[in-house]
Amino acid sequence: MTSSISNVTVIGAGTMGNGIAHVFAMKDYAVVLCDISEAALEKAVATISKNLDRMVAKEKITEDQKAKTLSNITTNTDLASAVSECDLVVEAATENVELKLNIFRQMDEHAPDDAILATNTSSISITKIAAVTKRPAQVIGMHFMNPVPVMKLVEVIRGYSTSDVTLDMIMEASQDLGKIPTEVNDYPGFVANRILMPMINEAIISLHEGVAGVEEIDTVMKLGMAHPMGPLQLADFIGLDVCLSIMNVLYDGFGNPKYAPCPLLVNMVTAGKLGRKSGEGFYKYEKGSKDVVVSESFK
Ligand code: CAA
Repeated sequence: MTSSISNVTVIGAGTMGNGIAHVFAMKDYAVVLCDISEAALEKAVATISKNLDRMVAKEKITEDQKAKTLSNITTNTDLASAVSECDLVVEAATENVELKLNIFRQMDEHAPDDAILATNTSSISITKIAAVTKRPAQVIGMHFMNPVPVMKLVEVIRGYSTSDVTLDMIMEASQDLGKIPTEVNDYPGFVANRILMPMINEAIISLHEGVAGVEEIDTVMKLGMAHPMGPLQLADFIGLDVCLSIMNVLYDGFGNPKYAPCPLLVNMVTAGKLGRKSGEGFYKYEKGSKDVVVSESFK
């Protein structure tokens, strides 16, 4: 750890939250992982441990480094005490505006006055989140990519009132994690999802219109454009509910019909086909299996 931040609280123990806790703890930050659910916290620590095992097996870290990383993480179900001594909070709760605003009001009340409040939101306005706090200059977007331990990018989003000092500290901390922070401004979808989501939506429209099947669309993009996953598999990986909510942010934010979510995406989310996390999306996922098999609905 070489940045001026040493105590980090991560709010939300889901996929992104556990990944963010993992990367800070590996660099010897003291991490408090906070979630209202004790079960979610236990699952998150087990996931971090499993992902560290993978790194030990590949000889990227030693058993001692794994143990040290885990010892840098404590868990807490009470937000007020979890943020009471932090230098930085990274909020990675569910992508829901009211929930995030509520969490930011609480973080603002209980975190030290000089703490930075960052959000891992994938599309909600940083300016809007900052406006519910008394420290808008210390609010910033710190958008990690999934899987966090693997992906190099941190999209750093400057809200309307974010100060230069806050920006510099977050750029420095991101570099300290071995990431490549990239600064962008606060507009719907920022850069990552303004570009990624319309591509995914267009892939779903192509499927919906019968231009090609699931495997064909993904193969074109994997082999033709060297994407590690095709857009439909990536949509499953991200979560179709998350994709839909981001498309709605773009559609509402720009008022342009080109961002209208594909009706097939809307239907699948309504039907509970959310991708990998629900066991089925464009593909079907068997527990414990790494096979990617096209869902019966698209055969
Ligand atoms: N934790 C730690 N390491 C992990 C990991 C995890 N959760 N998942 C994979 N890895 C590591 C593996 O150990 C492996 O490491 P080595 O290269 O050292 O061997 C490496 O990642 C590759 O993993 P695999 O060989 O198991 O599988 P793969 O080659 O298929 O790669 C992948 C998996 C990295 C996920 C790759 O498919 C990929 O890059 N997919 C696209 C991911 C992407 O686009 N993410 C962004 C999503 S958008 C987002 O997050 C933001 C948003 O707002 C929606």
